[in-house]
Amino acid sequence: MNTRISIDNLIAIVKSGGRVKTGIDVYNGKGVLLLARDIVVEKTRVLEIIKAKGIKSVLVNTALNGGLWDSDGHLIKVSSDGIVDYSNPSTDDEIIASQRVKQAFGDTAAKQIENRLKEIEEIRQQANQKYAEAKQSVKKVLADIKNTGGQFDYEEVESNVSELVDFLSGGDNPFSYLTHEIFSYDDYLYNHSVNVCAIGTAVADRFNSNFSKIVDDLINGTSSGINDPFEKDKPEPIQSFTCFYPEDLYDISLGFFLHDIGKVLVPDAVLNKKGSLTEEEFEEVRKHSYEYGVQILEKNKLKNSVIKNIVHYHHAPLFEGEGRCYPLDKNQTQVPLYVRICKLADIYDAMTSKRCYKEAYNPINVVTQLFRTYAKKDRMLQYILHAFVKSIGIYPPGSIVYLRNGQLAYVLESDGPLLLPFTDEKENTLRRQPDPFRANSPELEDAKTIDSRRSVKAPRDVNSLLPSYIRQIAVKSA
Ligand SMILES: [Fe+2]
Ligand SMILES: [Fe+2]
Repeated sequence: MNTRISIDNLIAIVKSGGRVKTGIDVYNGKGVLLLARDIVVEKTRVLEIIKAKGIKSVLVNTALNGGLWDSDGHLIKVSSDGIVDYSNPSTDDEIIASQRVKQAFGDTAAKQIENRLKEIEEIRQQANQKYAEAKQSVKKVLADIKNTGGQFDYEEVESNVSELVDFLSGGDNPFSYLTHEIFSYDDYLYNHSVNVCAIGTAVADRFNSNFSKIVDDLINGTSSGINDPFEKDKPEPIQSFTCFYPEDLYDISLGFFLHDIGKVLVPDAVLNKKGSLTEEEFEEVRKHSYEYGVQILEKNKLKNSVIKNIVHYHHAPLFEGEGRCYPLDKNQTQVPLYVRICKLADIYDAMTSKRCYKEAYNPINVVTQLFRTYAKKDRMLQYILHAFVKSIGIYPPGSIVYLRNGQLAYVLESDGPLLLPFTDEKENTLRRQPDPFRANSPELEDAKTIDSRRSVKAPRDVNSLLPSYIRQIAVKSA
């Protein structure tokens, strides 16, 4: 349920020791994110900044875990017109309130963390199951193609993928809760197909809403600030623009899922060769997209141009002169947006997955590299990469990261990310449970930031170091 609350009321609540969480993202008129939906606002600064941007009120959605809490941690009731019964506290009151908050939340912090660990585990178990099903589906498709010389049951794949897309589009991307390392030791092609589908779908979804918002604001003339609904004589905003229609999104996801389908026709001896490939062998590998992939689609009489474009062009250049790309028959500006998303998801997955010949790269380094290579080349690529960062959750909840001082920390939320350290700097398990903190906090000392040179771990990789309260919950499915 959405309720519009004035910024002044929110500032008063936070000033007196309370907390605010909007439950939905707050953007300015240019589509720049001012406040993420999951951030618990405990300091007035961010609200003051939003106010300074000319925004007088924001929506709080209680159905999406948004809410307002007083200094005792009690939910503040808000009437449907957004009036909060809260008087301005004096300075003494503020001090008392902040002490009460510390006591109240100090007592419940351990409980909150335990609940969060359980929540992560539940999502992860569900995601693992869905992931296994999707992997089975791709395994069957590829086996069918191999056995029949090119035929597969398209309708079955279509229904499996639409089920997968429904599962993935329920807000957070549940697959972002699975660390790449845990499923990347074997069956690379199967995992890769599911990963590119999951990552690409989340990115396309986010790109769709972000980009549509920018265009809508331009059409509505609201690009310099959010419309104040209480302002009279303003026409209702027109929600007119959708970059990808929902039915297109299904086809796009299906294309992501099938993008490497042509690899089945590349001889195993070439695909699994340990040493370096000859030029002819490279040519065989390249053919998986523009030749074998397209052949398989034609053999199955699939004329859907979205799927065909993805299979055909997912290794095409995205900017003039980009090396090691194929085929080269399309100018980079003619490569459709969804194919560009596929290519970036493909690179991201290949680099963040562990293979027999390489460690998984740390996701933040991979994203940084993607930004360096592509963001400046073209505005659309920049938008896609922003959607990438916003949607995939660089550090998956439930994964383990190293801090620069050598401590290990468990990721509670990917936004921030919110970290719970559990060892000291020499990797001895901490006896007491410390407070979680956000790694992007501006006051954070350098030593406490995430060490991006070291790869992200799954809990089972550091099983012996986990304190019992994490191990009991977190290593079951990891
Ligand atoms: Fe490919
Ligand atoms: Fe691929």
